[in-house]
Amino acid sequence: MPDTSKVIAVFGAGTGLGASVARRFAREGFRVALVARRKDRLDALVEQLTGEGIDAAAFTADLSKPAEVPALIDVIRGRFGRIDVIEYGPISGEQSFAPATKLDAVTLQKDSPLLLFTPVEVVRAALPEWAERGDGASRRPARRPGRPRRALLAPVHQARPHRADPPRADRRVTQPRPLATTARVIPRPSAPSA
Ligand SMILES: NC(=O)c1ccc[n+]([C@@H]2O[C@H](COP(=O)([O-])OP(=O)(O)OC[C@H]3O[C@@H](n4cnc5c(N)ncnc54)[C@H](OP(=O)(O)O)[C@@H]3O)[C@@H](O)[C@H]2O)c1
Repeated sequence: MPDTSKVIAVFGAGTGLGASVARRFAREGFRVALVARRKDRLDALVEQLTGEGIDAAAFTADLSKPAEVPALIDVIRGRFGRIDVIEYGPISGEQSFAPATKLDAVTLQKDSPLLLFTPVEVVRAALPEWAERGDGASRRPARRPGRPRRALLAPVHQARPHRADPPRADRRVTQPRPLATTARVIPRPSAPSA
């Protein structure tokens, strides 16, 4: 019988947050699709996760090319049969962000494929499956503590200029919250009343 357990697709899978999210969801019974550009690093991560008993597979793609998303989603579905959760965070430490106060059209144009167009295409490709099941979730990581807010979406979310984060010392580390593996249920459209 084919494995029908849930699947998380991590777009921008590295050794940081992507690997942690993969492990955390795997503890909830998820299988894991990992997407990034460098095959050697992805293969090493898959080997690690597989060694921990996790069903994981690598998919190489450059997420700054939104036109390639439908084919990528098809390949992931071909391997796993389904996608239940999308984690979108293809931003590594080397990449820099303009603070919201310095955002201009040239920067916005350069960053839009990776940070805006591709995630729209990824969610669009997943939606029919989620609507069919009435279940599915997409999440984007918050910024790393101490790093500036992402300028690309900041104008949408906040009118205030960027300010530095307060020091970490004033924040307590508490017990992790329970994981919401189905963050949002998409209701089926109700039939029109006669
Ligand atoms: N690590 C943390 O503790 C933490 C905490 C909170 C928030 N975050 C946020 O989470 C995001 C990811 O951080 P991370 O620590 O997980 O970084 P990471 O380990 O470097 O993973 C990001 C991965 O994205 C991939 N990537 C970059 N550009 C790509 C592209 N055009 N197409 C496909 N893949 C691409 C990179 O692999 P390739 O270069 O091989 O493509 C990289 O391995 C960041 O926005 C970060 O601020 C991280």
